[in-house]
Amino acid sequence: MIRLPNATVLVTGATGLVGRPLIDLLLAQGAKVRAVTRDARAAALPEGVDVVEGDPAGALDGVSSLFLNPRALGAHPDPRTVTAAADRLLSLAREHGAGRVVTLSALNVDHDLDEQPSRLRGEYNKETEAAVTASGMEWTALRSGYYAVNTIGSWAAQIRAGDTVRGAYAAAAWAPLHERDLAAVAAHALLTGDLAGERPVLTGPRALTQQEMIETIGAAIGRPLRFEEVAPEAARQGFLRGGVPEALADGFLTLQARSYLQHDLVTGEVERILGRPGLTFAEWATEHAADFRPQPPQTSRA
Ligand SMILES: NC(=O)c1ccc[n+]([C@@H]2O[C@H](COP(=O)([O-])OP(=O)(O)OC[C@H]3O[C@@H](n4cnc5c(N)ncnc54)[C@H](OP(=O)(O)O)[C@@H]3O)[C@@H](O)[C@H]2O)c1
Repeated sequence: MIRLPNATVLVTGATGLVGRPLIDLLLAQGAKVRAVTRDARAAALPEGVDVVEGDPAGALDGVSSLFLNPRALGAHPDPRTVTAAADRLLSLAREHGAGRVVTLSALNVDHDLDEQPSRLRGEYNKETEAAVTASGMEWTALRSGYYAVNTIGSWAAQIRAGDTVRGAYAAAAWAPLHERDLAAVAAHALLTGDLAGERPVLTGPRALTQQEMIETIGAAIGRPLRFEEVAPEAARQGFLRGGVPEALADGFLTLQARSYLQHDLVTGEVERILGRPGLTFAEWATEHAADFRPQPPQTSRA
């Protein structure tokens, strides 16, 4: 185990789902943080964080380790552009003396491409992971499963409007991962080097069917909710009406179709690494209950 004394960590995707809690955890453990964002004013990062706007290439002096979020490399239609951006940042970081890199990746990076719908949004986890492992730095790739926060995008609008959520494949199962657990594993990897050369597959502590996830959200917001299964084609039409591109809608449905009762999705890696059980979906839903409740009416000021 190599600990970095006086670590300075460059965090890409710093305002994001994982980046933001990661910054708090790094600061709490005494690390210096250099945070990359496209808009420093909007970022509203905590005091003491050194904020870098735009390209981090000129802000690598003194950086000892790097957190790489594939989404923060930009949404490009061609994966070669992402590979080039990752290679450039990593080789510059190495030239400036950085010795360690931790990247977000995904559980499905080795699956068929039609099971990786996020690629259609320009997120090239596979290419970013390959760039990191070839960087010459000590590396860790966090291969996460389904993020609990996905349920907001999938279901919050329906839950705000009523007690029934319609979708395909009620029995499709995931083990929702709390973003704070993912950030905690990233902080551990960045500050200790304990996970050097590893690709841990991170999941939540328990697999739940979509039906069970909906019921858990209902308990958190104090309303009985039910999942009504509809035919895959009806769900597909719903995605398209909601503006989801056709290929992305097909990718989501393919993933759901292949996730029937996959209770073996739970890996236990979060508990192994952090030495405590992973946060449950019920805890996540309680913390995020406001996202599923009807929005209060906006009051206008004279
Ligand atoms: N959702 C899942 O279930 C799941 C599972 C496994 C892996 N993943 C992977 O996790 C990664 C996403 O992580 P996340 O949810 O933490 O990301 P996120 O919060 O959506 O984004 C992180 C930050 O990246 C910046 N950003 C967003 N779009 C950008 C663009 N086009 N160009 C440059 N910067 C951009 C934004 O910061 P600023 O606006 O401040 O610049 C944003 O706050 C993806 O690679 C995804 O495939 C997701």
